[in-house]
Amino acid sequence: MRKKIIAGNWKMNMTPSEAVALVNELKPLVVNDEVDVVFCVPAIDIIPCMEAAKGSNINIGAENMYFEEKGAFTGEISPAMLVDAGVKYVVLGHSERREYFAETDETVNKKVLKAFEHGITPIVCCGETLAQREQGVTIDFIRQQIKVAFVGVTAEQAKTAVIAYEPIWAIGTGKVATKEQAEEVCAAIRACIAEVYDTDTAQAIRIQYGGSVSAASAPELFAMPNIDGGLVGGASLKPDFGKIVNYK
Ligand code: 13P
Repeated sequence: MRKKIIAGNWKMNMTPSEAVALVNELKPLVVNDEVDVVFCVPAIDIIPCMEAAKGSNINIGAENMYFEEKGAFTGEISPAMLVDAGVKYVVLGHSERREYFAETDETVNKKVLKAFEHGITPIVCCGETLAQREQGVTIDFIRQQIKVAFVGVTAEQAKTAVIAYEPIWAIGTGKVATKEQAEEVCAAIRACIAEVYDTDTAQAIRIQYGGSVSAASAPELFAMPNIDGGLVGGASLKPDFGKIVNYK
């Protein structure tokens, strides 16, 4: 039985002081031992959030990470910096990073390998555009994203990874995928992992759905057999996130 993982992606929101206030506000609302709870926060908020979350069930994650160890990469955050700050999860390859910051399947793969090397669990994002969905190439496109992201990743590592299926047309639009649409793609991702690795790996890996998840839509989405939780944007900044974590 896979443990659900419900993560907030704060994106570029919350100053350090606002971040601490939000962690303190949400702390009592997100208690649920059956679920791994992660707040992926802007780099500057990681340390104060880590401090604020101490003693709670909240894990603090990062929203990005660079694939080099250290050096002349102005503005980037290294894996060792995240590890030293206590980070266990990092979102990699979010569609916003692909769109605005030129991330590719290849750079995502380099980051995934680096995260594993440092013992950080990657939350690997994939998802199609509306045009791709309408052209009927969703599954082909997602399989390509996943296969490239996992090049060189061992089965033992893949078992611990998290994949977030986030259809781009559902992100920040209020237009959530139906539970059938989300389940179809999450099942296809699991089948792809089974093909690349084996059934054990496919059964172990956790696959989230993301895109306009709300307290209203979470229960039916998370009840689907291949959906192991969610990656939540807008609703992770509100007390509603407590309802999403306690979706049952
Ligand atoms: P929304 O929940 O705001 O649609 O964002 C989803 C997302 O991009 C999470 O990574």
